[in-house]
This record gives sequence, structure tokens and C-alpha cells, in this order.
Amino acid sequence: MKVYTLKNNVVEIDFIPRGGQIISIRVPDSNGNIADVVVGYDSLEETLNGDGYFGAICGRYANRIVKGEFEIDKEKFQLDCNDNTNHLHGGHEGFHAKIWDVTEVDLGQFVQAYKLSLTSEDGDQNYPGKLDVTVVYGLTEDNQFVIEYAAETSKPTVINLTSHPYFNLNGAGNGSAVYHQLQINASYYTPISAELGTTSGIIARVNGTPFDFTKPKSVQLACDANHEQINMIGGIDHNFVLDDFNGSVKLAGILTDPESGRKLEVYTDQPGIQIYTGAHFDGSERGKNGNPIQQCQGIAMETQIFPNSPNYDHFPNALLKPGERYTHVCIYKFC
Ligand code: GAL
Repeated sequence: MKVYTLKNNVVEIDFIPRGGQIISIRVPDSNGNIADVVVGYDSLEETLNGDGYFGAICGRYANRIVKGEFEIDKEKFQLDCNDNTNHLHGGHEGFHAKIWDVTEVDLGQFVQAYKLSLTSEDGDQNYPGKLDVTVVYGLTEDNQFVIEYAAETSKPTVINLTSHPYFNLNGAGNGSAVYHQLQINASYYTPISAELGTTSGIIARVNGTPFDFTKPKSVQLACDANHEQINMIGGIDHNFVLDDFNGSVKLAGILTDPESGRKLEVYTDQPGIQIYTGAHFDGSERGKNGNPIQQCQGIAMETQIFPNSPNYDHFPNALLKPGERYTHVCIYKFC
């Protein structure tokens, strides 16, 4: 498996064709000390045998669809269920598990860029329609790692792509990210129903809850809060409803590490962002620097539409029809 590198004078990003997995992002702190800020493994072999979601492109439908069921024009579809009774991140052989075609492209706005392409056949993981997908990974001079998704389908289908790096701005494999400060431009979030294992369709105010990140706050404050939504997960694994969504690219959130001074800004044109503090990591696997991967070793900030949107009319539209083009921009800017 070839490792591709995107670099400018400051930032270096490694990724592989399997899942388009971003396996390393090396950035300096304010004193010029370089650290790799994404959770993962020391070797390619461990990466290929390890958690396939680390840094991967997730799809066709990132996040959960309850019982893997949805309807288009009264026709029922039953997707592959790989998360107890739910469908998660496109199923067992979702886009994280596919080998993408990679070509270097010369696009004016980037110092360096690669285009990743994939054809997902009609019926893949039981989704309708043949889907042609491209994802551009581009790096600008001012340290913006830009991810541009696009897709077209041969039959009406549902789509929601995302990228799944877990960030630890103090260096992955170098302790917890729970002390990072997080700000999210979201006055609402979608609470989880224990019964459904994902959102019940309710959109709730963050005000007065641990999910209020409208001002920068330590992730620890939220994770330590005695709140039924936090206790149910063992941390944060929630979709935030971004304020003032209008389809243009806007600042969604900022993650800062007080220790190293590194700062990450996340921009998107999507209506939501899933924040995941890695509650399911129990230390049984070793990651970078040979250290056990524990809860909150990194924080995932996944731009997307909302979980289970195909089953809620008041949630963003997940439907893609022939002749239409799905597009999505996510920018991770290292400041
Ligand atoms: C996240 C999801 C988590 C977990 C993780 C993959 O996007 O919110 O619940 O499934 O992906 O391990």
C-alpha cells in the first residue's frame, strides 16, 4: 500500500488509498516543534490491521441510519447493519474499507492536491444506484487542509460523506486530548435516544447543558458532567446543529491545545458536525508511540448532515437523484 504525502513548507499529511485514510498530519507548534496530531498507529502494517475509521472517508452514509432502513418514493431499502441493529458509516464494506484510485492533480488554489476516486456499484451495501465519488485532498499555502467531496448517482439514493481523523493537538500517543478547548458554533444539538442508538429526531438547545460550546470550553468539563446524554455515551458522540446554515463555507468550530498552543479551525458548508471523544477506546490497542489508545486520546470533528436524516423530514435532505451533484467542503486549518 503506497503512502502519499501532501505538503507545503509547514504541514505534512500522509494518507493511503485504503479508505483514503489520513494516517499522519505533522504540524509545528509556536516554537517550531513538530508533532503528529492524528490518532493512529506507528506502522503501516498496524494501520491496515487496525481501526479502519481512523482518518478515513466514511460513506455512503456516514453516521447512523436506524435499523438500516429508509424509503425513497415509497420503495423500502434495507442496508447492511454493522452497529448492533443500526447501519453505521456505510456498512461493513463502507468507503473506509475500499481502495480508492489516487492521482495527483494541479489545482490552482493548492500547493499540492490529490484526487481520490471510487465507483460504488448499484447495490453496494444494499444502497440503490451506481455512485461515482471523488474526494480532493488539497493543501493551501496558509495551512488549510481542504477536503472537497463530490458524487453523482445513476438512481435516487441517499448520501452523507465525512472524514474521520481524531485530533490530538499535543501529539497523538502523547496523552489525553480532554484538556483541549473546544468551541462550536452550534446553539442546538441532536440528543441520542438510548432505544434507537442515535438521534430520535429531537433538536434541543445546548444552553444549560454540557453541550454548550458556544464559547471555548475544556472538553473535560463536558465529559465530566453528570448529564444523562454524557453518561449514556461516556463522553460526547453527538451531532451539533451549526448556526446560520445556508450552504456556504463557514467556521464550524475551533479546537485549541493550551499546552502546545496548536489550534485547529474547522470550516464547512454542511449543516452539522459530529463530535466524538472516542468513548469506545479501552486501551486494549496500542497506537502511536506504542501507547494504549484510551478514551479521549483524540477528538473527531466530522462535518456532515445529521444522523438518520433519511428517516426525518425535518432533518437535512440526504437524497441524491440522477442529474444532481452532491458536494461537500470540509477544511481543517492549522493555525
Ligand atoms: C463516529 C461515531 C462513533 C463511532 C465512530 C467509529 O463517527 O459517532 O459512535 O462509531 O465513528 O468508531
